[in-house]
Amino acid sequence: MSTSFSGKALRVLVTGGAKELGRAFSEVLGAQGHRLVITGRDEEALGAAEGELRAKGVDVEAHVADLGDPGATPKLIESLGGVDVLVNNGALGGPVGPTWQVDENEWWRTFEVNLRGTAFAANAAIRTMTSGRIINVVSNAGVHRWPYVTAYSVSKAAVIKLTENLAVELKRRPIAVLSYDPGMVGIGLMGRGCEHESDDPDQQRISRWARSQRDSGRFTPVEQSAGLLARIVSGEFDHRSGGLVTQNDA
Ligand SMILES: NC(=O)c1ccc[n+]([C@@H]2O[C@H](COP(=O)([O-])OP(=O)(O)OC[C@H]3O[C@@H](n4cnc5c(N)ncnc54)[C@H](OP(=O)(O)O)[C@@H]3O)[C@@H](O)[C@H]2O)c1
Repeated sequence: MSTSFSGKALRVLVTGGAKELGRAFSEVLGAQGHRLVITGRDEEALGAAEGELRAKGVDVEAHVADLGDPGATPKLIESLGGVDVLVNNGALGGPVGPTWQVDENEWWRTFEVNLRGTAFAANAAIRTMTSGRIINVVSNAGVHRWPYVTAYSVSKAAVIKLTENLAVELKRRPIAVLSYDPGMVGIGLMGRGCEHESDDPDQQRISRWARSQRDSGRFTPVEQSAGLLARIVSGEFDHRSGGLVTQNDA
């Protein structure tokens, strides 16, 4: 992983920072000397990540905070007295299938986590921040369509639009808001998508597509994805506030 960094150590909150891509982000940010706060729902995974990162000398604290609970992450941010950088990484993949056939409660729950959870965490961070940045982890699925995975696709599209609007509202303050597409990586949602064995034809369609993307070389190495996130955290892309940083910027 790219760990060269000579800037200021920042206090960075990574939602979903204990697992998969969020964990890769935590690893590279910790290696660069940033002070980390990581959240998620899974207390055991959070405790393990906290212990493993501390063993590497990382200043990290882990907290359970469910993004589906609208007050949980804002309350944590307030209790911390604010953060320098918020990485809104935690998200759900949502239900798979024709939109009118999937469980509507599960479909809506995806928005509660991916959109409301992201927005309310950003609001709380902005309220307590004099300067810093908000990084919303999105997906190409929010730029282009992703049929059969619409809660995920539409919630990520909404986050991209939220980022654009917040950046304009913040243009007179030294707070940048950026969307970040980490690319398709071989872990987390896409990694599981490739491995998924299912009798469900919709799930099979998504898994076939994920494998075809991987096999045709369209996946991004995790190190590259995390390395670019670290550059955004350091402020390198603040001049593009409101915009979407992609692997073309790597
Ligand atoms: N993997 C890819 O190829 C890919 C591609 C494009 C974009 N992304 C984006 O990258 C981010 C990470 O994705 P991933 O692939 O690592 O997904 P993942 O393996 O499903 O991990 C999701 C993370 O979010 C946390 N999370 C889920 N629901 C939560 C909730 N209600 N409250 C708090 N935390 C919650 C999980 O922690 P707990 O289980 O502890 O709650 C976990 O740390 C997402 O924003 C995703 O959209 C990923």
